[in-house]
This record gives sequence, C-alpha cells and structure tokens, in this order.
Amino acid sequence: MYRLTFTGDEDLLDVVLPLLPGGVREDSGAYAAYSGAMFSEAVRELTGGVVEAVPADWKLRQMGAGVVIGGVVGIRSPFDRETDAPIEVVVERRGSAFGSGSHPTTQMCVALLLELEPGGSAADLGCGVGTLAIVAAKLGWAPVVGVDRVPVAIEVARENVERNGVSVEVAVSDLAVDDIPLATVLLVNAPPPVHERVAAAVDASVRHVIVSGIVTDEMPDVVKGYEAAGFIVAQGLGTEDEWIALRLSC
Ligand SMILES: C[S@@+](CC[C@H](N)C(=O)[O-])C[C@H]1O[C@@H](n2cnc3c(N)ncnc32)[C@H](O)[C@@H]1O
Repeated sequence: MYRLTFTGDEDLLDVVLPLLPGGVREDSGAYAAYSGAMFSEAVRELTGGVVEAVPADWKLRQMGAGVVIGGVVGIRSPFDRETDAPIEVVVERRGSAFGSGSHPTTQMCVALLLELEPGGSAADLGCGVGTLAIVAAKLGWAPVVGVDRVPVAIEVARENVERNGVSVEVAVSDLAVDDIPLATVLLVNAPPPVHERVAAAVDASVRHVIVSGIVTDEMPDVVKGYEAAGFIVAQGLGTEDEWIALRLSC
C-alpha cells in the first residue's frame, strides 16, 4: 500500500481527483491519497507529492472517532470507526464541498433538530454534501430535499444519500435567484443572503426554521427577517468562536 502526501489548492484537486479513484483525505492542511499500486508518474508530477509505503491496515491505524450529537446521532467519515450512536450517518466530502459533520454549525443544527418530533417534510437549503438532509431522513422526516449551488457538493451528496440508504432528493440550485423549496422544517446552515431570501419566501406550510451559518453580529438582521414572516426564536445555541444556531418556530 502506498500513500501520496501533497499540498495544493482546489484547482490542483480538481485536476488530480479524477486520477485518484480512492479519493483524498485532508489532514492538517495536506492531502493524502492511498493506493494498492504505485501512483502514476502523471499524478506524482502533478502533485509534486511524497510517496511512501504504508502498512496495508492504514485505515484501521488512522481511524478517527467521528462525532456523536445528543447521544443519538453519530456522524463520521467512511474512514472513521463506527460510533455507538443509535443513528449513524456516514458522509464523505470532496474538494471544496462543505460538510463532513465536523463543523460546529452542522452539529448545532442537528442538536436543534433533535428537539423536534419528526413529522412532515424537511428541506436542507445549502446542503453541502447532504449531512443535515440525511440526518433528517434518518430521524423520520419525509419527504426530504436538499439543494446547493455547488455542483460537486450535490454530486457527493448524491453518493452520501446512497451510502446511507435514505430517500433524499438533492439538486443544484442557487438560492440567490432560484425558487426556495419549502417544507415543514427548513434547515438553513448558510450565509445571511440565503436567510434573507428564505425569510421572504416562507409561507404557512413552514413550521420551523433551523438557522445557522451566521455569527453573533449577523444574528439581529437574520432574526428580524424571520420575525417579519411570523416566526419567533424558540431555542438558541452558540460556540465560543461566535457561530450561532437558532430554531425559529411559528
Ligand atoms: C456552512 S455550509 C453548510 C452545509 C451543510 N448544510 C452542513 O451543515 O453541513 C453552507 C452551504 O451553503 C451553500 N450556499 C451558500 N450560498 C448558496 C446559495 N446562494 N445557493 C445555494 N447554496 C448556497 C454553500 O455552497 C455551502 O455548501
């Protein structure tokens, strides 16, 4: 087994990923790819990376732990060992696509979703690689949709949906201009301009909006938008580095 370690930007990743069927892992600012056979000269030249022989059980040796939220939902990558959570979600990210479950905003959204009794539809607006949509589907929300403007995120989200054996429709959509999908619960872990459009679009079919992707300074304006649509803040969470997550309900 060989490991190729290299550094580079997203443009380099876009070029070399098709040549690395096993994908890459991001680790401390560097990328690592693994292969049972020696990497091609093209890949080595493109990346300028270092190749070394590693033990065949590298996956076991490198396994991380994933994260468990509320003792109920475990989120991990395919390379992590299984969690002991009753509901486990396995997601992979790739290139610039957001969302391995490791970001505090994603985890706070899951924590807030766990406070709701599943009943009705869910829409993950700015779904990245589909983590929140998959969690919602596993919790019992249906139907579930997810949209993101980044095509590679939706490509990976589709793989993640299949990997987790859930029914979630994902599609490329730019929420700055396209119609906003509505549902009983909206999961909106996205920047303020997306919240502005979502708040302007919500109607009586929407009961809850889980809001994140914003920091303390951005909260008043975002909340104002949803309050104008008839929602009130029901629950809030925050991190030391100022990320905010809220549940607004009506
Ligand atoms: C903070 S990430 C959250 C991803 C995922 N929901 C999660 O929690 O793991 C924000 C996501 O919103 C997406 N996004 C930002 N602006 C958008 C827009 N105008 N239309 C659609 N997606 C957008 C980004 O591409 C990114 O995937």
